[in-house]
Amino acid sequence: MTQTELTAAADHGVGMTARRDAWWLQPLLIFIGLTTFGVYAIWAAWQGNNYLYVGHGAYYLSPFYSPDLQAIFGFQPPFSFAFLVLWIPLGFRASCYYYRKAYYRSYMLDPPACAVGEPKNRCYQGERKFPFILQNLHRYFFYLALLLLVSLWYDAIRALFFRGPNGGLQLGLGVGTLVLFFNVITLTAFSFGCNSCRHLIGGQLNCFSCSCTTRTRYKLWRGVSVLNLKHMEWAWVSLFAVGFADLYIRLCAMGIWHDVRLW
Ligand code: FES
Repeated sequence: MTQTELTAAADHGVGMTARRDAWWLQPLLIFIGLTTFGVYAIWAAWQGNNYLYVGHGAYYLSPFYSPDLQAIFGFQPPFSFAFLVLWIPLGFRASCYYYRKAYYRSYMLDPPACAVGEPKNRCYQGERKFPFILQNLHRYFFYLALLLLVSLWYDAIRALFFRGPNGGLQLGLGVGTLVLFFNVITLTAFSFGCNSCRHLIGGQLNCFSCSCTTRTRYKLWRGVSVLNLKHMEWAWVSLFAVGFADLYIRLCAMGIWHDVRLW
């Protein structure tokens, strides 16, 4: 089938296409995945409790509540303080170039897939007007997300230390420690594969080989570009990891799951 025939079929309205493959499957799975995560994240943030597990000397803090602003500043807002944190990863992911493609297709059907009809009477104007102009804030969300990564690395490393019977801290390893490390490693891979990160490191240069600094930037740019090649995969793995980390700590704190000390 030619490109012209495919385009002609898609012109007949939303969902119309000459494609015979399961083009609808990917947008459907993305819709289910993002909706499930979104509902869970709002519910977990709303709770305002069971975000910290301190059984058998462990110290596991849910990534939804990191940094622990309540402990740091000693104040109790009239709502769950997770909401003071979560707008950063929300803005970072919502303005991510991969996620834009994913939810434009899955939620707005605009278009649902290549060569599939989209809703009529929509005049695409790029991202120059409200609300889509806000997508241009992505680089600033990237900077804020880096701050959160520092906090998450601190939490993962903190989870390597367990309080002993005499009150001192000992090095150890629990399943929760692995969960927190898995979370922060995947989030780091996702964040450093960001296009804004690539631009920050390798952008605005006319010559990569002209000096020691530019050569170093070139090497770093190539490194983060490797992560960028799998940005979609890192987006999903990290989304699962952060949701699972909260779930794991929540269920341990509620006494439903029991953390196992491996060492
Ligand atoms: S492009 Fe996806 S996080 Fe920046």
